[in-house]
Amino acid sequence: MNNKAYVTTPIYYVNDVPHIGHAYTTIIADTMARYYRLKGRETYFLTGTDEHGQKIEEAAKSRNRNPQEYADEISGKFKALWDDFDISYDKFIRTTDADHKLGVQKAFKTMFDKGDIYKGDYEGHYCVSCETFFTETQLIDGDGCPDCGKPTNLVKEESYFFKLSSYQEQLLKWYHDDEQCVLPKGKKNEVISFVKQGLRDLSITRTSFDWGVKLPEEMGDPKHVMYVWLDALLNYVTALGYGKDEENMDFWPATMHLVGKDILRFHAIYWPAFLMSLGLPLPTHIAAHGWWTRNGEKMSKSKGNVVNPKEVADAYGLENFRYFMLREVPFGQDGDFSQKALIDRINSDLGNEFGNLLNRIIGMSGKYSQSAVTSKDVKALHVKELSDVEEILDGVEKKLNELQTNRYLEDLWKVLTIANGAITAHEPWVKIKNGDTDGALAVVGLVANILARVTVLVSPVMPKTSSKIAAALGFEINTESYTKLIQNRELLNDFVIEKIPPLFPRIEEEAIETPEPSTKPEVKKKKETKTKEESIITIDQFFETSLKIGTILEAEEVPKSDRLLKLKVDVGEENPRQVIAGIKEYYAPADLINTQVCIVANLKPAKIMGMLSQGMLLAAKDKDGLALMRPETPKKSGSSVG
Ligand code: ME8
Ligand code: MG
Repeated sequence: MNNKAYVTTPIYYVNDVPHIGHAYTTIIADTMARYYRLKGRETYFLTGTDEHGQKIEEAAKSRNRNPQEYADEISGKFKALWDDFDISYDKFIRTTDADHKLGVQKAFKTMFDKGDIYKGDYEGHYCVSCETFFTETQLIDGDGCPDCGKPTNLVKEESYFFKLSSYQEQLLKWYHDDEQCVLPKGKKNEVISFVKQGLRDLSITRTSFDWGVKLPEEMGDPKHVMYVWLDALLNYVTALGYGKDEENMDFWPATMHLVGKDILRFHAIYWPAFLMSLGLPLPTHIAAHGWWTRNGEKMSKSKGNVVNPKEVADAYGLENFRYFMLREVPFGQDGDFSQKALIDRINSDLGNEFGNLLNRIIGMSGKYSQSAVTSKDVKALHVKELSDVEEILDGVEKKLNELQTNRYLEDLWKVLTIANGAITAHEPWVKIKNGDTDGALAVVGLVANILARVTVLVSPVMPKTSSKIAAALGFEINTESYTKLIQNRELLNDFVIEKIPPLFPRIEEEAIETPEPSTKPEVKKKKETKTKEESIITIDQFFETSLKIGTILEAEEVPKSDRLLKLKVDVGEENPRQVIAGIKEYYAPADLINTQVCIVANLKPAKIMGMLSQGMLLAAKDKDGLALMRPETPKKSGSSVG
């Protein structure tokens, strides 16, 4: 096997701030990069931003911004998020980088000289949102984009074409010969049937706008800019120095291009064809995952249903979130994001199974032997458990290599179940009572060894948490311990098991108010809202908010919540409103009854912990606490405020 590994994410468009869909791709890629490094492979991990094209030009224009400045801002947000998330990338490429542009021009010239590019006239339909050309027959209801449904534009312009059609047979041969070139299998079959329907030559330049890479000067055709997908796909080689010093081209071909299913066609058809034309080797794997959805709809900014990954990570823990994303959905399929599912995974898989196992051996080793465990008898006494563990571990890495992250983690958790089962079956506390200290310590040693192996294999998914567990068990996670514990199946004999604070504290309530799908894509924070830059609004904008005086008729605590009260508030309507308010720390329910408050009465109703909330109370907060805003003298319920 090639000892070098090269992992990439798509380069993200800068028309959109990052959401959990982008985070998912990047987290899987990061996991794979960490896994290859763990195995001792020299690894290069690339991510970045896609900044050219009509879509970005229009997005900048609609904000009265110049495209470069606008791209700088959003690209910075992606980079800041990945830094915050400890994403272990080696390079963050931007398609506006000078080196990248030179590489793209070099590639264009190479393909042109080879005879794969010719000039002609393009007539067809273009979807700006997908940056994709379509023929008339592909459109939905006359002009709708078959991918996103938005209206397409009729484009008629001079264009250079790439002879995609002449690569059809070679592509089909590649899919046929290289079983794992496109993952998962089902997606690969879709690609094959698409190619079998026949490939048309691809328009690869545009003249109707300029926010893109110009053709090489020697072509003498300054009005053309490159099609954004040609520009973008080439990032995977320009990042390695293609067209310049080729400094890192020994990482090529990519081990793994990770993409969402929305862009598989570009990666599994156009990209290999471009590479063939350039005479470069083809990627080892192109892997397409499914979408994160809300109520079945793809999460995307234009739908206003996005969840902010930073809020999720802040509220639930970054590594818990990583575990959840990789464990929850089978690779290639869609998954609906829900905090409930995330909380269940944290409390049950991580807390009850993983964390608890560590706690149990911390407790037992402390009691039986002042934390020192010599497990010299493990091999002799626990043949069956060890062989069960090994049987699972034999097949587990294959699953990760095929990106079946959920099955990989599922299998590691089966290994944890064997450990928990061993404690129950062998009752070390009974052995101790009967004077069989060696026997008791062999059980602890078995469990510690199982935990050590699982921890090493979980480390690409949860690097920091795994290091803490390894430290408690007295070893370090690195290629050496991977080789020893995983590849060579050696057992650790001596442990000094240290007590550490619980790694997965139980979570009782949902921490984030997520927007109802199709409302504004803002995610409100549980605690302190950040101080926002104040913007000037008009009086009309102010009066769009309906503020009313309400009288609290009933108030009760929300069970299992530290901060919520459920109120019934009379705002002068036929029925009182139910309002879920985060004021439990500051007010006793009985003190609120029959008092007046000021309520935002025209907020879209939201669900908080499954309960409908039909309004929001105004309150002021400082370091001493929180105070509700109330009228100075009683006012009729429903009086308007303003
Ligand atoms: O397509 N669920 O950029 P992009 C899961 N610039 N993943 C999602 C997602 C969702 N709801 N939404 C987005 C582009 N993604 C091009 C790529 S590469 C040479 C050029 C992820 O900003 C997923 O990986 O639209 C998808 O492929 C990618 O974001 C698209 O990001
Ligand atoms: Mg997109």
